[in-house]
Amino acid sequence: LFTAVEMAPRDPILGLNEQFAADTNPNKVNLGVGVYYDDNGKLPLLECVKKAEGAMMAAPSARGYLPIDGIAAYDAAVKSLVFGADSEPVQSGRVATVQGLGGTGGLKIGADFLKKLSPGAKVLISDPSWENHRALFTQAGFTVETHPYYDAAKRGVNFEGMLAALKAAPAGTIVVLHACCHNPTGYDITPAQWDQVIAAVKEARLTPFLDMAYQGFGNGIQEDGAVIGKFVAAGLTFFVSTSFSKSFSLYGERVGALSVLCENKDEAARVLSQLKIMIRTNYSNPPIHGGAVVAAVLNNPELRALWEKELAEMRVRIKAMRQKLVDGLKAAGVTQDMSFITTQIGMFSYSGLSKEQMVRLRNEFGVYGTDTGRMCVAALNSKNIEHVCQSIAKVI
Ligand code: LMR
Repeated sequence: LFTAVEMAPRDPILGLNEQFAADTNPNKVNLGVGVYYDDNGKLPLLECVKKAEGAMMAAPSARGYLPIDGIAAYDAAVKSLVFGADSEPVQSGRVATVQGLGGTGGLKIGADFLKKLSPGAKVLISDPSWENHRALFTQAGFTVETHPYYDAAKRGVNFEGMLAALKAAPAGTIVVLHACCHNPTGYDITPAQWDQVIAAVKEARLTPFLDMAYQGFGNGIQEDGAVIGKFVAAGLTFFVSTSFSKSFSLYGERVGALSVLCENKDEAARVLSQLKIMIRTNYSNPPIHGGAVVAAVLNNPELRALWEKELAEMRVRIKAMRQKLVDGLKAAGVTQDMSFITTQIGMFSYSGLSKEQMVRLRNEFGVYGTDTGRMCVAALNSKNIEHVCQSIAKVI
Protein backbone atom coordinates (compact mmCIF):
# COMPACT_ATOMS: atom_id res chain seq x y z
CA LEU A 1 0.00 0.00 0.00
CA PHE A 2 2.72 2.48 0.90
CA THR A 3 5.50 1.54 -1.50
CA ALA A 4 4.67 4.35 -3.94
CA VAL A 5 4.27 6.99 -1.24
CA GLU A 6 6.67 9.83 -1.87
CA MET A 7 8.42 11.85 0.81
CA ALA A 8 6.57 15.16 1.12
CA PRO A 9 8.61 18.35 1.30
CA ARG A 10 9.19 19.89 4.71
CA ASP A 11 6.61 22.53 5.71
CA PRO A 12 8.12 25.88 4.65
CA ILE A 13 7.43 27.45 8.07
CA LEU A 14 6.89 24.81 10.76
CA GLY A 15 9.48 22.53 9.14
CA LEU A 16 12.13 25.10 10.05
CA ASN A 17 11.39 24.55 13.74
CA GLU A 18 12.61 20.97 13.42
CA GLN A 19 15.85 22.09 11.80
CA PHE A 20 16.26 24.84 14.39
CA ALA A 21 15.78 22.41 17.27
CA ALA A 22 18.53 20.16 15.87
CA ASP A 23 20.98 23.05 15.31
CA THR A 24 23.85 23.05 17.84
CA ASN A 25 24.95 26.64 17.12
CA PRO A 26 24.84 28.39 20.55
CA ASN A 27 23.97 31.70 18.84
CA LYS A 28 21.01 30.32 16.89
CA VAL A 29 17.99 32.62 16.53
CA ASN A 30 14.58 31.46 15.29
CA LEU A 31 13.04 34.16 13.10
CA GLY A 32 11.22 31.53 11.05
CA VAL A 33 7.82 30.91 12.56
CA GLY A 34 5.49 33.78 13.53
CA VAL A 35 5.84 33.61 17.28
CA TYR A 36 6.35 36.49 19.73
CA TYR A 37 9.16 36.10 22.26
CA ASP A 38 9.87 38.63 25.01
CA ASP A 39 13.15 40.48 25.46
CA ASN A 40 14.61 37.47 27.31
CA GLY A 41 13.82 35.24 24.35
CA LYS A 42 11.03 33.55 26.30
CA LEU A 43 7.56 32.71 25.06
CA PRO A 44 5.33 34.83 27.33
CA LEU A 45 2.56 33.41 29.47
CA LEU A 46 0.29 36.44 29.65
CA GLU A 47 -0.79 37.61 33.12
CA CYS A 48 -4.43 37.73 31.98
CA VAL A 49 -4.15 34.08 30.93
CA LYS A 50 -2.47 33.15 34.22
CA LYS A 51 -5.25 34.84 36.19
CA ALA A 52 -8.02 33.20 34.17
CA GLU A 53 -6.35 29.81 34.55
CA GLY A 54 -5.84 30.40 38.29
CA ALA A 55 -9.57 30.92 38.72
CA MET A 56 -10.26 27.81 36.67
CA MET A 57 -7.84 25.71 38.73
CA ALA A 58 -9.42 26.98 41.95
CA ALA A 59 -12.78 25.63 40.81
CA PRO A 60 -11.92 22.65 38.63
CA SER A 61 -14.69 21.23 36.51
CA ALA A 62 -15.32 17.95 34.70
CA ARG A 63 -14.79 17.90 30.92
CA GLY A 64 -17.86 16.89 28.97
CA TYR A 65 -18.11 17.29 25.21
CA LEU A 66 -18.50 20.87 24.09
CA PRO A 67 -21.28 21.73 21.68
CA ILE A 68 -20.09 21.19 18.08
CA ASP A 69 -19.72 24.94 17.54
CA GLY A 70 -17.81 25.42 20.80
CA ILE A 71 -18.33 27.40 24.00
CA ALA A 72 -21.30 29.76 23.62
CA ALA A 73 -19.65 32.50 25.70
CA TYR A 74 -16.52 32.19 23.55
CA ASP A 75 -18.40 32.46 20.26
CA ALA A 76 -20.27 35.51 21.61
CA ALA A 77 -16.99 37.13 22.71
CA VAL A 78 -15.45 36.53 19.27
CA LYS A 79 -18.46 38.10 17.55
CA SER A 80 -18.19 41.18 19.77
CA LEU A 81 -14.45 41.46 19.22
CA VAL A 82 -14.66 41.08 15.45
CA PHE A 83 -17.84 43.06 14.69
CA GLY A 84 -18.38 45.15 17.84
CA ALA A 85 -20.79 44.20 20.64
CA ASP A 86 -23.27 46.91 19.67
CA SER A 87 -22.87 46.50 15.93
CA GLU A 88 -25.87 45.86 13.74
CA PRO A 89 -24.66 42.39 12.59
CA VAL A 90 -24.30 41.18 16.20
CA GLN A 91 -27.50 42.85 17.39
CA SER A 92 -29.52 41.42 14.54
CA GLY A 93 -28.06 37.94 15.00
CA ARG A 94 -26.84 37.56 11.44
CA VAL A 95 -23.30 36.36 12.28
CA ALA A 96 -22.64 32.61 12.47
CA THR A 97 -19.53 32.01 14.62
CA VAL A 98 -17.91 28.69 15.49
CA GLN A 99 -14.89 27.97 17.67
CA GLY A 100 -12.05 26.70 15.51
CA LEU A 101 -8.70 25.00 16.02
CA GLY A 102 -6.63 28.15 15.68
CA GLY A 103 -6.93 30.50 12.74
CA THR A 104 -5.99 27.61 10.45
CA GLY A 105 -8.97 25.66 11.76
CA GLY A 106 -11.27 28.60 11.06
CA LEU A 107 -9.94 28.84 7.52
CA LYS A 108 -10.37 25.11 6.93
CA ILE A 109 -13.96 24.99 8.19
CA GLY A 110 -14.72 27.91 5.87
CA ALA A 111 -12.87 26.34 2.94
CA ASP A 112 -14.71 23.01 3.32
CA PHE A 113 -18.07 24.79 3.56
CA LEU A 114 -17.28 26.92 0.49
CA LYS A 115 -16.30 23.83 -1.47
CA LYS A 116 -19.78 22.42 -0.88
CA LEU A 117 -21.39 25.76 -1.66
CA SER A 118 -19.39 26.81 -4.73
CA PRO A 119 -17.46 23.76 -5.93
CA GLY A 120 -16.37 25.42 -9.17
CA ALA A 121 -15.11 28.68 -7.67
CA LYS A 122 -11.46 29.63 -7.82
CA VAL A 123 -9.55 31.04 -4.89
CA LEU A 124 -7.41 34.16 -5.21
CA ILE A 125 -4.64 34.80 -2.70
CA SER A 126 -2.04 37.57 -2.65
CA ASP A 127 1.36 37.11 -4.25
CA PRO A 128 2.93 36.28 -1.87
CA SER A 129 0.65 35.08 0.90
CA TRP A 130 0.93 32.97 4.04
CA GLU A 131 2.35 29.73 2.71
CA ASN A 132 -0.49 27.68 4.18
CA HIS A 133 -3.24 29.62 2.37
CA ARG A 134 -2.45 27.98 -0.95
CA ALA A 135 -1.92 24.57 0.61
CA LEU A 136 -5.09 24.72 2.69
CA PHE A 137 -7.44 25.82 -0.10
CA THR A 138 -5.81 23.40 -2.55
CA GLN A 139 -6.29 20.58 -0.05
CA ALA A 140 -9.95 21.61 0.23
CA GLY A 141 -10.23 20.97 -3.52
CA PHE A 142 -9.91 24.47 -4.98
CA THR A 143 -7.74 25.82 -7.76
CA VAL A 144 -5.73 28.60 -6.15
CA GLU A 145 -4.40 31.56 -8.13
CA THR A 146 -2.71 34.77 -7.07
CA HIS A 147 -3.29 38.47 -7.49
CA PRO A 148 -0.35 40.91 -7.52
CA TYR A 149 0.59 42.27 -4.10
CA TYR A 150 4.25 42.76 -3.25
CA ASP A 151 6.25 45.16 -5.35
CA ALA A 152 9.91 44.42 -4.66
CA ALA A 153 11.25 47.47 -6.50
CA LYS A 154 8.90 49.81 -4.68
CA ARG A 155 9.21 48.00 -1.34
CA GLY A 156 5.46 48.15 -0.93
CA VAL A 157 2.20 47.05 -2.48
CA ASN A 158 1.46 46.93 -6.20
CA PHE A 159 -1.98 48.27 -5.50
CA GLU A 160 -2.93 48.98 -9.11
CA GLY A 161 -2.07 45.38 -10.00
CA MET A 162 -4.06 44.02 -7.09
CA LEU A 163 -7.12 46.10 -7.91
CA ALA A 164 -7.02 45.24 -11.61
CA ALA A 165 -6.84 41.52 -10.79
CA LEU A 166 -9.80 41.73 -8.42
CA LYS A 167 -11.83 43.63 -11.01
CA ALA A 168 -11.01 41.00 -13.64
CA ALA A 169 -11.85 37.98 -11.44
CA PRO A 170 -14.96 36.00 -12.39
CA ALA A 171 -18.03 36.43 -10.17
CA GLY A 172 -18.01 34.01 -7.26
CA THR A 173 -14.21 33.92 -6.95
CA ILE A 174 -13.18 33.52 -3.33
CA VAL A 175 -10.65 36.21 -2.43
CA VAL A 176 -8.56 35.68 0.69
CA LEU A 177 -7.58 39.02 2.22
CA HIS A 178 -5.31 39.73 5.18
CA ALA A 179 -7.34 41.99 7.48
CA CYS A 180 -4.18 43.48 9.00
CA CYS A 181 -0.43 42.83 9.35
CA HIS A 182 0.00 41.15 5.97
CA ASN A 183 1.85 37.84 6.26
CA PRO A 184 4.56 37.55 4.94
CA THR A 185 5.31 41.05 3.63
CA GLY A 186 4.36 43.32 6.55
CA TYR A 187 2.84 45.78 4.07
CA ASP A 188 -0.83 46.65 4.56
CA ILE A 189 -2.96 48.67 2.18
CA THR A 190 -4.31 52.03 3.41
CA PRO A 191 -7.92 52.61 4.57
CA ALA A 192 -8.61 54.49 1.32
CA GLN A 193 -7.23 51.55 -0.69
CA TRP A 194 -9.43 49.17 1.32
CA ASP A 195 -12.41 51.25 0.17
CA GLN A 196 -11.38 50.63 -3.42
CA VAL A 197 -10.83 46.91 -2.80
CA ILE A 198 -14.26 46.63 -1.19
CA ALA A 199 -15.91 48.46 -4.11
CA ALA A 200 -14.14 46.11 -6.56
CA VAL A 201 -15.14 43.01 -4.57
CA LYS A 202 -18.75 44.20 -4.53
CA GLU A 203 -18.83 45.16 -8.20
CA ALA A 204 -17.24 41.87 -9.33
CA ARG A 205 -19.40 39.86 -6.89
CA LEU A 206 -16.45 38.11 -5.29
CA THR A 207 -16.65 36.18 -2.01
CA PRO A 208 -14.37 37.82 0.57
CA PHE A 209 -12.60 35.66 3.13
CA LEU A 210 -10.74 37.81 5.66
CA ASP A 211 -7.92 36.22 7.61
CA MET A 212 -7.42 38.10 10.86
CA ALA A 213 -4.59 36.32 12.66
CA TYR A 214 -2.75 39.38 13.97
CA GLN A 215 -5.41 41.72 15.33
CA GLY A 216 -3.71 44.04 17.82
CA PHE A 217 -0.19 43.66 16.41
CA GLY A 218 -0.48 46.51 13.90
CA ASN A 219 -1.87 49.74 15.32
CA GLY A 220 -4.30 48.48 17.96
CA ILE A 221 -7.26 46.15 18.39
CA GLN A 222 -9.85 48.61 17.07
CA GLU A 223 -7.60 50.01 14.37
CA ASP A 224 -6.61 46.59 13.05
CA GLY A 225 -10.21 45.40 13.06
CA ALA A 226 -11.56 48.51 11.32
CA VAL A 227 -11.61 46.82 7.92
CA ILE A 228 -14.40 44.50 9.13
CA GLY A 229 -16.64 47.53 9.71
CA LYS A 230 -15.89 48.71 6.18
CA PHE A 231 -17.05 45.39 4.69
CA VAL A 232 -20.19 45.50 6.85
CA ALA A 233 -20.93 49.09 5.79
CA ALA A 234 -20.64 48.04 2.14
CA GLY A 235 -23.49 45.58 2.68
CA LEU A 236 -21.38 42.53 1.86
CA THR A 237 -21.65 39.04 3.29
CA PHE A 238 -18.27 37.48 4.05
CA PHE A 239 -16.07 35.10 6.05
CA VAL A 240 -13.61 36.05 8.82
CA SER A 241 -11.17 33.70 10.49
CA THR A 242 -9.78 34.72 13.88
CA SER A 243 -6.70 33.48 15.68
CA PHE A 244 -5.78 33.98 19.34
CA SER A 245 -2.49 32.11 18.98
CA LYS A 246 -0.47 35.31 18.83
CA SER A 247 -2.66 37.85 20.60
CA PHE A 248 -3.03 35.60 23.68
CA SER A 249 0.29 33.80 23.27
CA LEU A 250 -1.73 30.56 23.27
CA TYR A 251 -0.13 28.96 20.21
CA GLY A 252 -0.37 25.38 21.41
CA GLU A 253 -3.96 25.64 22.60
CA ARG A 254 -5.19 26.00 19.01
CA VAL A 255 -7.79 28.59 19.75
CA GLY A 256 -9.44 30.49 16.92
CA ALA A 257 -12.76 30.91 15.18
CA LEU A 258 -14.68 31.30 11.95
CA SER A 259 -17.40 33.93 11.61
CA VAL A 260 -19.70 34.18 8.61
CA LEU A 261 -21.70 37.36 8.14
CA CYS A 262 -25.02 36.47 6.51
CA GLU A 263 -27.93 38.50 5.10
CA ASN A 264 -30.19 37.83 8.07
CA LYS A 265 -30.71 35.75 11.19
CA ASP A 266 -32.47 32.92 9.42
CA GLU A 267 -29.64 32.57 6.90
CA ALA A 268 -27.09 32.64 9.76
CA ALA A 269 -28.90 29.75 11.47
CA ARG A 270 -28.78 27.69 8.27
CA VAL A 271 -25.11 28.51 7.66
CA LEU A 272 -24.28 27.59 11.25
CA SER A 273 -25.99 24.21 10.82
CA GLN A 274 -23.74 23.51 7.81
CA LEU A 275 -20.56 24.67 9.57
CA LYS A 276 -21.40 22.21 12.35
CA ILE A 277 -21.37 19.36 9.82
CA MET A 278 -17.87 20.41 8.70
CA ILE A 279 -16.71 20.31 12.32
CA ARG A 280 -18.49 17.12 13.31
CA THR A 281 -17.05 15.19 10.39
CA ASN A 282 -13.51 16.47 10.97
CA TYR A 283 -12.93 16.47 14.72
CA SER A 284 -16.41 16.30 16.25
CA ASN A 285 -16.16 19.28 18.60
CA PRO A 286 -13.39 21.56 19.86
CA PRO A 287 -11.28 21.20 23.01
CA ILE A 288 -12.26 23.21 26.09
CA HIS A 289 -9.23 24.79 27.67
CA GLY A 290 -8.03 27.48 25.25
CA GLY A 291 -11.52 28.66 24.40
CA ALA A 292 -12.47 28.79 28.10
CA VAL A 293 -9.40 30.92 28.88
CA VAL A 294 -10.05 33.37 26.06
CA ALA A 295 -13.75 33.61 26.91
CA ALA A 296 -12.91 34.24 30.59
CA VAL A 297 -10.55 37.06 29.64
CA LEU A 298 -12.67 38.72 26.95
CA ASN A 299 -15.86 38.57 29.03
CA ASN A 300 -14.32 39.99 32.23
CA PRO A 301 -13.70 43.78 32.09
CA GLU A 302 -10.67 43.63 34.41
CA LEU A 303 -8.97 40.75 32.59
CA ARG A 304 -9.87 42.25 29.25
CA ALA A 305 -8.17 45.54 30.18
CA LEU A 306 -5.11 43.58 31.30
CA TRP A 307 -5.06 41.68 27.99
CA GLU A 308 -5.25 44.90 26.00
CA LYS A 309 -2.34 46.30 28.01
CA GLU A 310 -0.23 43.17 27.52
CA LEU A 311 -1.01 43.06 23.81
CA ALA A 312 -0.03 46.73 23.50
CA GLU A 313 3.29 45.94 25.20
CA MET A 314 4.02 43.23 22.66
CA ARG A 315 3.11 45.58 19.80
CA VAL A 316 5.31 48.39 21.14
CA ARG A 317 8.28 46.07 21.70
CA ILE A 318 8.07 44.75 18.14
CA LYS A 319 8.08 48.31 16.79
CA ALA A 320 11.13 49.14 18.91
CA MET A 321 12.94 46.05 17.56
CA ARG A 322 12.23 47.16 14.00
CA GLN A 323 14.05 50.43 14.68
CA LYS A 324 16.90 48.59 16.43
CA LEU A 325 17.21 46.30 13.41
CA VAL A 326 17.48 49.25 11.03
CA ASP A 327 20.06 50.97 13.27
CA GLY A 328 21.95 47.73 13.90
CA LEU A 329 22.23 46.89 10.20
CA LYS A 330 23.64 50.34 9.51
CA ALA A 331 26.13 49.98 12.35
CA ALA A 332 27.11 46.55 10.99
CA GLY A 333 28.07 48.16 7.69
CA VAL A 334 24.99 47.64 5.52
CA THR A 335 24.99 50.65 3.20
CA GLN A 336 21.66 50.11 1.48
CA ASP A 337 18.61 51.86 2.93
CA MET A 338 16.87 49.38 5.24
CA SER A 339 14.38 51.89 6.68
CA PHE A 340 11.56 50.00 4.95
CA ILE A 341 11.67 47.65 7.95
CA THR A 342 10.03 50.35 10.09
CA THR A 343 7.26 51.03 7.58
CA GLN A 344 6.26 47.35 7.65
CA ILE A 345 3.77 46.32 10.30
CA GLY A 346 2.96 43.29 12.44
CA MET A 347 5.25 40.39 13.27
CA PHE A 348 7.10 40.07 9.98
CA SER A 349 9.62 41.79 7.81
CA TYR A 350 9.96 40.79 4.21
CA SER A 351 13.66 41.45 4.02
CA GLY A 352 14.18 41.19 0.28
CA LEU A 353 16.97 38.65 0.87
CA SER A 354 17.22 35.82 -1.65
CA LYS A 355 16.77 32.13 -0.89
CA GLU A 356 20.57 31.66 -1.15
CA GLN A 357 21.13 34.42 1.40
CA MET A 358 18.51 32.94 3.74
CA VAL A 359 20.13 29.50 3.48
CA ARG A 360 23.54 31.03 4.25
CA LEU A 361 22.08 32.87 7.24
CA ARG A 362 20.79 29.56 8.56
CA ASN A 363 23.74 27.33 7.80
CA GLU A 364 26.60 29.70 8.62
CA PHE A 365 25.11 31.85 11.38
CA GLY A 366 22.17 29.93 12.85
CA VAL A 367 19.76 32.75 11.92
CA TYR A 368 16.52 31.15 10.73
CA GLY A 369 14.01 32.90 8.45
CA THR A 370 11.88 31.41 5.69
CA ASP A 371 13.36 30.82 2.23
CA THR A 372 11.23 33.67 0.89
CA GLY A 373 13.18 36.17 2.99
CA ARG A 374 10.55 36.58 5.69
CA MET A 375 11.87 37.23 9.20
CA CYS A 376 9.83 37.32 12.39
CA VAL A 377 10.91 40.57 14.03
CA ALA A 378 8.81 39.63 17.09
CA ALA A 379 11.55 37.14 18.00
CA LEU A 380 14.33 39.75 18.06
CA ASN A 381 15.57 40.94 21.44
CA SER A 382 18.31 43.09 22.95
CA LYS A 383 20.59 40.01 23.26
CA ASN A 384 20.26 38.47 19.80
CA ILE A 385 19.91 41.60 17.66
CA GLU A 386 23.65 42.23 17.34
CA HIS A 387 24.28 38.69 16.08
CA VAL A 388 21.36 38.94 13.65
CA CYS A 389 22.57 42.30 12.26
CA GLN A 390 26.17 41.11 11.90
CA SER A 391 24.99 37.94 10.17
CA ILE A 392 22.68 39.76 7.74
CA ALA A 393 25.47 42.25 6.95
CA LYS A 394 27.77 39.35 6.05
CA VAL A 395 25.35 37.76 3.58
CA ILE A 396 24.18 40.99 1.93
C1 LMR B 1 3.45 31.87 10.58
O1 LMR B 1 3.11 32.35 9.50
O2 LMR B 1 4.63 31.67 10.88
C2 LMR B 1 2.41 31.52 11.59
O3 LMR B 1 1.14 31.84 11.12
C3 LMR B 1 2.52 30.14 12.06
C4 LMR B 1 2.05 29.13 11.07
O4 LMR B 1 1.20 28.32 11.41
O5 LMR B 1 2.55 29.12 9.93
